[in-house]
Amino acid sequence: MAEIDKDSGIIVTKDLTKVFNGKAVLEKLSIAIEKGKTTVIIGPSGCGKTVFIKHLIALLRPTAGEIFFKGQRIDNLHERDLGKIRMQMGFLFQGGALFDSATVYENILFPVRQHTNISDRRQLDEIVKSKLAVVGLDGYQSYYPANLSGGQKKRVALARAIALNPEVVFYDEPTTGLDPVRSDVINELILKLKKELGITSIAVTHDMTSAYKISDRIVMLHKGKILADGDAEYIKNHPNDTVRQFILGQVSEADVAALRVSGTKFASQFNPKDFEE
Ligand SMILES: Nc1ncnc2c1ncn2[C@@H]1O[C@H](COP(=O)(O)OP(=O)(O)OP(=O)(O)O)[C@@H](O)[C@H]1O
Ligand SMILES: [Mg+2]
Repeated sequence: MAEIDKDSGIIVTKDLTKVFNGKAVLEKLSIAIEKGKTTVIIGPSGCGKTVFIKHLIALLRPTAGEIFFKGQRIDNLHERDLGKIRMQMGFLFQGGALFDSATVYENILFPVRQHTNISDRRQLDEIVKSKLAVVGLDGYQSYYPANLSGGQKKRVALARAIALNPEVVFYDEPTTGLDPVRSDVINELILKLKKELGITSIAVTHDMTSAYKISDRIVMLHKGKILADGDAEYIKNHPNDTVRQFILGQVSEADVAALRVSGTKFASQFNPKDFEE
């Protein structure tokens, strides 16, 4: 593979290592994220997907290694210099996290108020209206999150993520908790942002249907490293057992063995014979 340098992609990590409590969650991870494409990060729960994308937006600092955004090193920037960088990024965090006490209107304006000094009411109204139109929710400006469905909340969070016309949008589990139809609405929106606005997307998901649909590239993390990296067809047909078991949602032999062991702990509380007719 060609050597990755700071200009190999819109976001580049070089030998990114993150250690928590003596344990490496990410280990010398190097990747170049291509501009205008959708990169999907998959991998078992706890493998470091959220930790990884938090580094890309400099919410976490590496233990070692470097991170570049459009050729500029960002992992060592002072918090006050990160504002300019984060303005160019939108986030849809795991859990959605709208502000419950604020209307849809104010939720969408949050990044605008944080990063700009736009105060003209008509201009603000127009930003909110146009972003809600993108996600099909113009007219919901005065709603509170409590009065929205789960799918609508995600769409409002997406409208907020694109409020400042970011170049890159990060999604952490965008379809989790949604039914298949509502998940597909989110998938279509992610595709639309790429096609119509040229947005670079980086999405973490467990939802392989979504991953196959939205991705140009799928990267599987495992034990702190990249275990598989390629387009949907490549990943679907990946020869590695761990990759196959993961994408097919199968439990590995090792997992089954571990379950058997921990199962014995309950022997005194649970007797299979109790369930016999
Ligand atoms: N601030 C922190 N301090 C210590 N350990 C952390 C911290 N944040 C994450 N970790 C650990 O890093 C590992 C990776 O966590 P992460 O949240 O990235 O997993 P994930 O792949 O996103 O999992 P999931 O699919 O369940 O969301 C976990 O073992 C977690 O306990
Ligand atoms: Mg996570």
